[in-house]
Amino acid sequence: MKNILVTGGAGFIGSNFVHLMLGKYDDIQVVVYDKLTYAGNPDNLAPVVDNPRYHFQQGDICDAATVDKVMQQYDIDTIVNFAAETHVDRSLMEPGGFIQTDVYGTFVLLEAAKKYEIERYHQIGTDEVYGEVIEGRSMETDRLHTRSPYSAAKAGGDLMCLAYYTSFGVPVTITRGSNNIGPYQYPEKVVPVFITNAMDDQPLPLYGDGLQMRDYQHVADHCEGIDTVLRQGQPGEIYNLGTGVETTNIKMTKLILKLLNKPESLIQPITDRPGHDRRYALDCSKVRALGWQSRHNFEQAIESTVKWYVDNEDWWRKIKSGQHYQAYYERQYAGREIG
Ligand code: NAD
Ligand code: DAU
Repeated sequence: MKNILVTGGAGFIGSNFVHLMLGKYDDIQVVVYDKLTYAGNPDNLAPVVDNPRYHFQQGDICDAATVDKVMQQYDIDTIVNFAAETHVDRSLMEPGGFIQTDVYGTFVLLEAAKKYEIERYHQIGTDEVYGEVIEGRSMETDRLHTRSPYSAAKAGGDLMCLAYYTSFGVPVTITRGSNNIGPYQYPEKVVPVFITNAMDDQPLPLYGDGLQMRDYQHVADHCEGIDTVLRQGQPGEIYNLGTGVETTNIKMTKLILKLLNKPESLIQPITDRPGHDRRYALDCSKVRALGWQSRHNFEQAIESTVKWYVDNEDWWRKIKSGQHYQAYYERQYAGREIG
């Protein structure tokens, strides 16, 4: 693993992964390949821009010719695919782009992996492919039960990866992560929306009864887990990645308000997300057997995330003051207040 193509590396988790890899290893080159959609942000990569082992190419993973050019130009031996449309609420509004990038784009990258006989293709997957889990925990062998266009598209990508392993011997691994939080998360996902709204004394739009459960993990732990699987995971295998402890959204919301010293009266219940999965819960024993475990518990992950947004107001105010963000926010939240 010398020349790594990080697709979607200008997004939230991808940029954290780039920082981790360039800081941790001094014998690798990292090439970020990113379309720079609304979620891709060059500011996320500012800390590494002068690193001679870092390279950037703007491009779409669905564009086979440009992917091929980059594979040759940088002699790529490893692909880590973070590129995706990622927000469930947007997949309910406009699902087409999710199918295109998350399924067809994955196919294009797998074709490149096959053609150049690379050492490893790693797919960043999600726990959402298991669907809601009211009791117990999802194992990697569980059947998929997708319920949103986002999770269905992600499942399509995973299944294409497994098909390329079985049919063509492409050395594929997949991780299925739970909800990430931490630096550089676009303020459409719940935790950065709630932190930044609270800082501005704006309402926190909580869906339904707030008793849905998510396993909020720190992005640094997720990235370490991905690196563990890249180095020690077996081709053809899937690894769940999370803390293994889930929390209700209302508990997460109250902790954010407490840390910011803001009143709970800022919580604004709104109509629920259609098809909202009540609970995700992962069994992570398979990845733990490789020696990985998360270093942050829920409280530590939230606390460090709140601190990052307090310390990096310029980063998120630039996004939130933009026309694209404000149009999205209006479309997503206007008129949904309950009571
Ligand atoms: P993000 O939305 O912050 O970033 C996605 C990145 O992909 C952006 O930089 C965007 O410009 C790029 N991109 C989108 N379409 C592209 C295309 N066609 N070609 C090239 N680049 C494209 O996403 P994220 O939260 O960092 O998620 C990264 C990956 O991790 C995704 O595959 C997502 O499904 C998965 N995941 C996310 C979470 C989470 O909690 N955020 C949890 C589990 C898995
Ligand atoms: O589980 C992994 C997944 O986590 C990733 O695959 C997705 O890319 C990522 O977006 C995330 O999906 P969720 O739908 O769980 O994340 P989101 O931040 O959108 O919502 C988290 C919870 O908070 C969920 O129960 C819905 C709720 N929510 C969300 C928003 C945006 C609210 O109550 N209010 C909100 O405004």
